[in-house]
Amino acid sequence: MIKKGIIIAAGSGSRLAPLSNSLSKHLFPVYDKPMIYYSLSILLLAKIKNISLVTRNQDINLYKSIFGNGEKFGFKLHYVIQDEPKGIADALKKNIDFINYDPVCVVLGDNVIYGNNLASQLISLTKKTKKSHIFGYYVKNPKNYGIVNFDKNYNIISLEEKPKKPKSNWAVPGIYFYDKTLIKKLKKIKPSKRQELEITDVNKLYLKENKLDLTLLGRGYAWLDMGTYDSIQEANNFISAIEKRQGLKIGCIEEICFNNGWISKANMNYFINKYKNTNYGEYLNSIINR
Ligand code: DAU
Repeated sequence: MIKKGIIIAAGSGSRLAPLSNSLSKHLFPVYDKPMIYYSLSILLLAKIKNISLVTRNQDINLYKSIFGNGEKFGFKLHYVIQDEPKGIADALKKNIDFINYDPVCVVLGDNVIYGNNLASQLISLTKKTKKSHIFGYYVKNPKNYGIVNFDKNYNIISLEEKPKKPKSNWAVPGIYFYDKTLIKKLKKIKPSKRQELEITDVNKLYLKENKLDLTLLGRGYAWLDMGTYDSIQEANNFISAIEKRQGLKIGCIEEICFNNGWISKANMNYFINKYKNTNYGEYLNSIINR
């Protein structure tokens, strides 16, 4: 059973300068909440309570002012520093003590996933720890992503990071379920041409051992990542359209923790009070009175 999760939210955010010079892009607003809420909510929907957040030292106090040690939300949050953007797998390497040879779920701090039955899919993957697991999502611009190629039985044939000539249009979103051999693989990989430790190289080692499964997220899902101002704007538009239409929020961490039974009604009142006179506070109030 996977009980540990890691959010990768360091990196330079160089494509978002000058704003990212002074603020982690993962705290930029995406419609009505900080970007990181959406990736954190993926772990919370999977009912993962023990979480490590990788951040730059300069941003750590901002995260602490939002989440503290997670206690108010009913989860446990550790902080790990990565000051140089040496790759996603390098950020994972900073978590060797946290991982401690347990299976883990890893989420990139700039990803949003939305779709029917997502929570139950995630929960069922936390129970499959014999192999590691990635997702595939059809995209128009495969050169920008990690790409997976597979046969008609969905067995993975190859993985490539930002290929010049992609073998498929199926991108690998930033949610990975790893078995307990992750540390061994992290110690094996070498920097890529762009001098980063690549998550795709970790996944390739699993593939080599025939220990990597794939689930395709079909057309009923939305997967967005937010590396540029345009992609943040697109996520903004998507989230605002759905939230306005339904009156239900995407990535509302207090709601998920309350539904998981981790926040009591009394503790929800703390948040309702904190956000009083806001739409967010009114929404939390409506949840406890549902
Ligand atoms: O979004 C999915 C894609 O994410 C995957 O398909 C790719 O295989 C994977 O390499 C990654 O590609 P990106 O080009 O989108 O990665 P990016 O450099 O934007 O970083 C993704 C997140 O990881 C972002 O939230 C910042 C964080 N990060 C990145 C690096 C390089 C770190 O925390 N530390 C780092 O050193």
